[in-house]
Amino acid sequence: MLRIDKLKQLEICDAYFISSSTNRYYFCGFKSSFGYVIYTEGNAYFLTDKRYGEEARAFFNGQSIKVIDGNKNQLNDAIQEILSSASINTVGYEDNRTSCSDFNDLSGLINKKFIAVGKQIDKLRIIKDEYELAQIEAAQKVTDKAFAKILTIIKGGMTEKDICAELEYQLKINGADGIAFDTIIASGSNSSLPHASLSKRKIENGDFIVMDFGAKYNGYCSDMTRTISLGKPSAEMVKVYETVLKAQTLAINALKAGINCKEIYNISNNYISANGYEKQFLHGLGHGLGLEIHEGPWINNLSDEILEKNTVVTIEPGIYIEKSFGVRIEDLIIIKENGIKNLTNADKKLILI
Ligand code: GLY
Ligand code: MN
Repeated sequence: MLRIDKLKQLEICDAYFISSSTNRYYFCGFKSSFGYVIYTEGNAYFLTDKRYGEEARAFFNGQSIKVIDGNKNQLNDAIQEILSSASINTVGYEDNRTSCSDFNDLSGLINKKFIAVGKQIDKLRIIKDEYELAQIEAAQKVTDKAFAKILTIIKGGMTEKDICAELEYQLKINGADGIAFDTIIASGSNSSLPHASLSKRKIENGDFIVMDFGAKYNGYCSDMTRTISLGKPSAEMVKVYETVLKAQTLAINALKAGINCKEIYNISNNYISANGYEKQFLHGLGHGLGLEIHEGPWINNLSDEILEKNTVVTIEPGIYIEKSFGVRIEDLIIIKENGIKNLTNADKKLILI
């Protein structure tokens, strides 16, 4: 899908130079590991190498974008030719996705004023269109299915790595193109680390197991976390679980278009603090997601962003008791014009296996 004309909304520069694979895909709908998109005065160019030339020409056939494929020198010539137009004074580029070396190469090619617009470009991706919402919903469906299956597979004695391998297999056989990010399986005392590295620790009776995972589906991500118990949890573990769940429920119930992200964060944080765990909620409450696992809007104590309709956010409070255990529960939610749609259907009552 061609979304390149969205760059017009920025009204900052005479031309835009897109080099990241994520934004090339977002604006043009064509997957490639290398290339550039140039957009100026309503004209769009897709520059890539010979590996993608034939496929790109077929893909863009009949669309208002010109494909240029060639070697490095040929592409540099094309960039110079396009951007040297007398009507172009300013060129916007993705400062947040361009290495210093690549920027030096680009700015050495052409004597124009380069303007950093990476953040403004990324903001164009916050509000999703119907196609994107459908892909994210499909990605989450796959993720829910994989979770339901893994509950039947987990047994005492399995390692975190074993569980991870089974879970990622379930994501893939249920339709995922791949995983959305490195799966987190954190068991027992490892679960007090919000982003614990995968280990060979064997799960044992009395462990909480935090599973944070997601699928990629047609390029779009899902993201969910559930904390389950192997055997009977202690009274404190149950209290912490119920506190996190209530903190999440309160925040989800307050979600709506027009609300300030900090306000949502405070709802969860205040509840967690009131229950005595103010120092144990160690991260933001949530984030947007789409082609990337972490996108705006950001739901944390510093974020003044306002939630808009057709954005997709996670709500994922957690409490982490150092060297002991942790709990995180995460759902994926679409903000609608009137209300919300929670895409995560997996149960949230504490599951004992
Ligand atoms: N699910 C991983 C994260 O949000 O950081
Ligand atoms: Mn997340």
